[in-house]
Amino acid sequence: MIKRTLVKHALQATESLGDIRVEGWVRTRRDAKSFSFVEINDGTSLASLQVIIDAKLPTYETHIGDLSTGAAVRVMGMLTPSQGKNQSWEIVATSFEVIGRADASYPLQKKGHSAAFLRDIAHLRPRSNLFGCVFRIRSRLAHAIHQFFQDRDFVNIHTPIITASDCEGAGEMFRVTTIDPNNPPMKDGNVDYNRDFFEQPSYLTVSGQLAAEAFACSLSNVYTFGPTFRAENSNTSRHASEFWMIEPEMAFCDLAENMDLAEGFIKHLISDILEQCPAEMHFFAKFVDKDLLNRLKAVVDQPFQRLTYEEAVKILEQSGHSFEYPVSYGSNLQSEHERFLTEKHFKCPVTVFNYPKTIKPFYMRANADGVTVAAMDVLVPGIGEIIGGSQREERLEMLEQQLEHHKLSKENYWWYLELRRFGTVPHSGFGLGFERMLMFLTGISNIRDVIPFARTPGSAEF
Ligand code: 4AD
Ligand code: MG
Repeated sequence: MIKRTLVKHALQATESLGDIRVEGWVRTRRDAKSFSFVEINDGTSLASLQVIIDAKLPTYETHIGDLSTGAAVRVMGMLTPSQGKNQSWEIVATSFEVIGRADASYPLQKKGHSAAFLRDIAHLRPRSNLFGCVFRIRSRLAHAIHQFFQDRDFVNIHTPIITASDCEGAGEMFRVTTIDPNNPPMKDGNVDYNRDFFEQPSYLTVSGQLAAEAFACSLSNVYTFGPTFRAENSNTSRHASEFWMIEPEMAFCDLAENMDLAEGFIKHLISDILEQCPAEMHFFAKFVDKDLLNRLKAVVDQPFQRLTYEEAVKILEQSGHSFEYPVSYGSNLQSEHERFLTEKHFKCPVTVFNYPKTIKPFYMRANADGVTVAAMDVLVPGIGEIIGGSQREERLEMLEQQLEHHKLSKENYWWYLELRRFGTVPHSGFGLGFERMLMFLTGISNIRDVIPFARTPGSAEF
């Protein structure tokens, strides 16, 4: 049998490829008097390939009825310039074969299902136009991220997924254990985790940062790109319990350079996707968010607004806007505050830096004012926080004080402290939420719709 041609390659052909073999799923079939027109999509492109099946083909009478929406088919035929105005090429079939039938209960019969309906059939939704676009972009974005760092001499580090340390110190970790909850080993009235699989309490990681720091303090510039897990019970459109994070970590790098990298990184990713995925991006602009392309181009072209946390709080206090959560110096910025700054006040991405140390994790570097730390968050319109990062505390005594202050044990972080004992250097890094970046790029407003199978509180189906 001749080699399979992907629909994408057939449609992009600059000259006829002659006789080809195409396989995919039927989107629609229309029967005319002496022909049937069948749209085949194999997921390699938004566009489908039209196949013309002559009623004189020997299997026509017996099998054309099986070419129903959702069925998997194989078609052999000649790639021919199309008469129709919607496509440049079509196939005139010499034979066709049904590989897998789909009956009338196939749920993707009609166009225009709601995202909520499609979430309930997450195993089939990648066959829809919308989700085909989302997941091709997701793949390309992952590629662009690796390319960005590899081109800049960053080394990719695979940090552990199971860990004993709570990087963010927020206690939002999923426990990993082989202990039988109905019959746990006990010692002095408590569960004895020394008799658990890892002989200590262990969890799914919330961030690869601490491990990445060890490698930055050896290989200079590194990055991680992996799944992270948070057991925070916030059922919002921007939080997932399992999400992917990209975490660059740079030795000999301060907060200003860190913010520069974060801004350049986001701009690069937008440019890459606009250039590499034009069909998908136009689809989102047409069906999801009319203003998408203009907004993204403006983000690439203009510098991000940079201001301190203190300045941000002043703007919010003086805005006259009534927020659900009041803002005052020392409180966390809520999503509504972040969105006010980016959408209403500055109308562009905003990098907020120097947050009060009381609301940030133990590892951030204390500023000379004694009150703030060298933290930074990048906020974008429509989403709020997309990046969180900081310069790290590289001074041993200061770090030990911070651990104590956060009631974390020095024994657990012994190796992290040793990085400060042996050849310590100023270093910085940040984490980009991969799904939040996808939401920003596509205009899709629910994080559940940019992950193949979303994990959120109360939901781990599929
Ligand atoms: O601000 P976060 O918690 O920072 C860290 O984890 C640092 N250790 C990163 C670093 O400096 N290396 O998370 C970073 C980003 C957020 O800005 C957000 O985009 C995303 O991760 N994020 C989530 N995305 C989806 N669902 C959640 N529950 C998320 N929590 C954080
Ligand atoms: Mg954060």
